[in-house]
Amino acid sequence: MNNPTLKQSYYIQTYGCQMNVSDTEVMEAVLEQMNFTKASCIEEAGIILFNTCCVRENADLKVYGRLGELKENKRKNPELIIGVVGCLSQKDGANFLKRFPYIDLVLGTYKHGRLPYLIQEVIAGKGPIIELSERKVREEEELPVKRENEISAYVPISYGCDQFCAFCIVPFVRGKQRSRHPKTLMKEVQNLAESGYKEITLLGQNVNTYGFDLGPEHSFDELLKLLDGLDGIERIRYITSHPKFFPLDLVDTIARLKKVCEHFHLPLQSGDDEVLKRMRRGYTYNDYKKLVHRIRALIPHASITTDLIVGFPGETEEQFQKTLEAYQEIQFDQAFMFSYSPREKTRAAAFENQIPELEKKERLHRLIACSNKIVEKKNKDQVGTIQEILVEGFSKKNANRLTGRTRTNRIVVFDGSQEMIGTLQKIHIENGYSWGLEGNAAVSSYA
Ligand code: SAM
Ligand code: SF4
Ligand code: F3S
Repeated sequence: MNNPTLKQSYYIQTYGCQMNVSDTEVMEAVLEQMNFTKASCIEEAGIILFNTCCVRENADLKVYGRLGELKENKRKNPELIIGVVGCLSQKDGANFLKRFPYIDLVLGTYKHGRLPYLIQEVIAGKGPIIELSERKVREEEELPVKRENEISAYVPISYGCDQFCAFCIVPFVRGKQRSRHPKTLMKEVQNLAESGYKEITLLGQNVNTYGFDLGPEHSFDELLKLLDGLDGIERIRYITSHPKFFPLDLVDTIARLKKVCEHFHLPLQSGDDEVLKRMRRGYTYNDYKKLVHRIRALIPHASITTDLIVGFPGETEEQFQKTLEAYQEIQFDQAFMFSYSPREKTRAAAFENQIPELEKKERLHRLIACSNKIVEKKNKDQVGTIQEILVEGFSKKNANRLTGRTRTNRIVVFDGSQEMIGTLQKIHIENGYSWGLEGNAAVSSYA
């Protein structure tokens, strides 16, 4: 690799959740401060970073598969720098090097600020380097961010998680919850508004416990009120909420605040109380329903979406049926559904009565079939309504059409022109499918 431009270019491949997307935005800014430029594809890059996820086994396997393929790239270009960062690196640490000895850098979570120093060390021939995070250490510093999107921005409000749900590895790899100060967040969102952003999505593993680590005067409720008062931003979203920490009066606050969208993503995980207890989720199905009732009483058109796990250890057919019944009863607008995957260190991985893979797959198929029908029906219910859409860009499937989202987070595809991108439009909904809606920009625009 004698081409100096090639050496100065980077490519980050991101896996996992929005938090990882947001971390990639930070790493890109950090690398650009070092005068590295973004390569158009992985083959063009002198530095390749994999920002990894380990929430389920198939997330691990995806990364291992891609890293295996890079062996050949490294053989051809010994100067190529290959790094792994994020949750899977934090989990696997030195094992990464045993398996893939051609990796130069293994960086845990929240170590982005160290990238410039560590990359210089690798360039100086001091690799491979492993640097992981300690669970208790507070490592945050305010780092720059390079956002690709100019309409909608991710804003992390807290990092880490203190819940230790029995199935989940996130607290082990992301450490204790650390909330960013409201003043910092207000400043960041104000800057986004001044740069023309219309929508922000507040990120945290459990946004409802925001501020618990800052002091009694701080809460998610207060943060939403503060952010709602800022001019310029039109929509505020947040993920993920935990039903245990979602007080009923937070629904009242959200119903009052104009910018906070009418979309509640509330992971239920299971419809059975015994399973919920063993998952250590801290609520019963009945508690969850009370929350749903309050949302529907105050905001009847709100959408409610969820995450569900099938095949948790010991889950009986009857208990799985409770999840299906819960789906039918609540009529979720959308769901992310997963087959339980044992993760090291978590309590549930050591439980007896692990469910065979085939059984889990079969339950997942049944749940997805149930979900598809309901989601399609709920989308068809939107036909004939007029929805406010924030136009995000051209549709990937049809470059002549635009795509955007309703306040309830439904995807809408419609005919329109370039100038509409980044604006709010009123769209008449004409068709509903399981993937989203089709409409027509027949009515005049808003802003
Ligand atoms: N913090 C969020 C929450 O409390 O729901 C999201 C955590 S995780 C990144 C997203 C979803 O993955 C979870 O809601 C859960 O449904 C699923 N999940 C987590 N661990 C899992 C596992 N071991 N097997 C299958 N699904 C899992
Ligand atoms: Fe995982 Fe539970 Fe924390 Fe969500 S709240 S990140 S599911 S431990
Ligand atoms: Fe995966 Fe880490 Fe997110 S494990 S889901 S990338 S917090």
